[in-house]
Amino acid sequence: MYIDKAADYVGQVQTINGWVYNSRSSGKVAFVLVRDGSGIMQCVVAKSDIDESTFEAVRHLTQESSISITGAIHAEERAPGGHEMHVQKIEVHQAAVDYPITPKEHGVDFLMSNRHLWLRSKRQWAIMRIRATIVKSIRDYLDDNGFLLMDAPILSANACEGSSTLFSTDYFGIPAYLSQSGQLYNEATAMAFGRVYCFGPAFRAEKSKTRRHLTEFWMVEPEMAYCNWSQNCDVQEEFVTYIVQQVLEKRKEELAIIERDLSPLEKIATPFPRISYDEAVKLLQKAGSPIQWGDDFGGDEETLISNQFERPVFVHSYPKSFKAFYMKTNPANPQTVLCADLLAPEGYGEIIGGGQREDDYELLLERVHAEGLAEADYQWYLDLRKYGSVPHSGFGLGVERTVAWICKLPHVRETVPFPRLLEKIYP
Ligand code: 4AD
Ligand code: MG
Repeated sequence: MYIDKAADYVGQVQTINGWVYNSRSSGKVAFVLVRDGSGIMQCVVAKSDIDESTFEAVRHLTQESSISITGAIHAEERAPGGHEMHVQKIEVHQAAVDYPITPKEHGVDFLMSNRHLWLRSKRQWAIMRIRATIVKSIRDYLDDNGFLLMDAPILSANACEGSSTLFSTDYFGIPAYLSQSGQLYNEATAMAFGRVYCFGPAFRAEKSKTRRHLTEFWMVEPEMAYCNWSQNCDVQEEFVTYIVQQVLEKRKEELAIIERDLSPLEKIATPFPRISYDEAVKLLQKAGSPIQWGDDFGGDEETLISNQFERPVFVHSYPKSFKAFYMKTNPANPQTVLCADLLAPEGYGEIIGGGQREDDYELLLERVHAEGLAEADYQWYLDLRKYGSVPHSGFGLGVERTVAWICKLPHVRETVPFPRLLEKIYP
């Protein structure tokens, strides 16, 4: 039996295969909390119900020992999960000695070095299950709304998001890079299939040691033909609202374990406010920031902006100078591009980067040159503007930043099983 299915087995004798989460005993009765991955079950052993040697074995169970435990399942309101087992038999597979992560508080460095074990703790259990629901909601929404999954390559000869953050590798004598984004390939598949998405890992050799930067993260990237930047935002707000609603509906227990205040999440609904970069600069200056028009926003600026809104907020039409080469020039103000970032509330900041793509061959070629990119490497991408070019847009949502926001975590390191951070590739 799996613990999360206990309600189906009340009154029956069942076996749970799991690990000792915690145990305590008096002379007459012992309580063992057993986890099996699906949940935690309180197992009660009365000395009077069981032979002496089994009772002694239970009394000496150590944290994280692997066991199979058999007994009758009872409904019990006071037990975690609402059920408990009255134990009849126990088999110890391996007795764990001195498990390093004890119920006491540990420092982050210690926990990170023991990430392979830390994942067994209740809080990590809750976060990883919420992450899985976020990923499933992403796929469900896109699959059910006319988007076709089109996997993009991980090894690529192209830089999508600037050449300064590439992880390079040798591809049989040719320089190649780990993908920073599947977007350029999505633009090709969107011209073949209309509405597409790719979903996979992205790599950035970013020397940033912040609460929101990983060197390897997961990104979902939808791309739509015949779509302008504002229609692109319409899709994003529906998409993000759906994800939040799914987590609220399906992960109540997990949100309670991490003590997430639900009220800010319950306020997430369409439409999301949209402000221009110009308006955002004014808003920041009013709040006392020294920012000037033309400066990029960092985490602090995004936190300041997102704190002013209860819903995620789009900031659109950023200056061209610090945005990617593929973004479409804003015809109303050629200093800016038709892009929009989505900033999550509660100070979280950017979770989505997206916008309309340059669909004019000459303008795009100009941008390729201006960025110092080798034209030959982008020939295939430029082709898309030669053969039936259309207005098109898309976006990329970072899974880890979304998990951090929805779980209200202080850092992205807890949002993925094995985070890859600057100076951290173990375990
Ligand atoms: O804003 P970014 O760089 O946009 C792109 O990569 C576009 N090509 C996407 C597209 O339009 N198809 O990244 C998109 C999102 C960010 O908003 C953020 O959530 C996440 O990816 N992200 C990171 N997450 C963790 N660590 C990093 N170093 C990240 N860099 C970006
Ligand atoms: Mg961005």
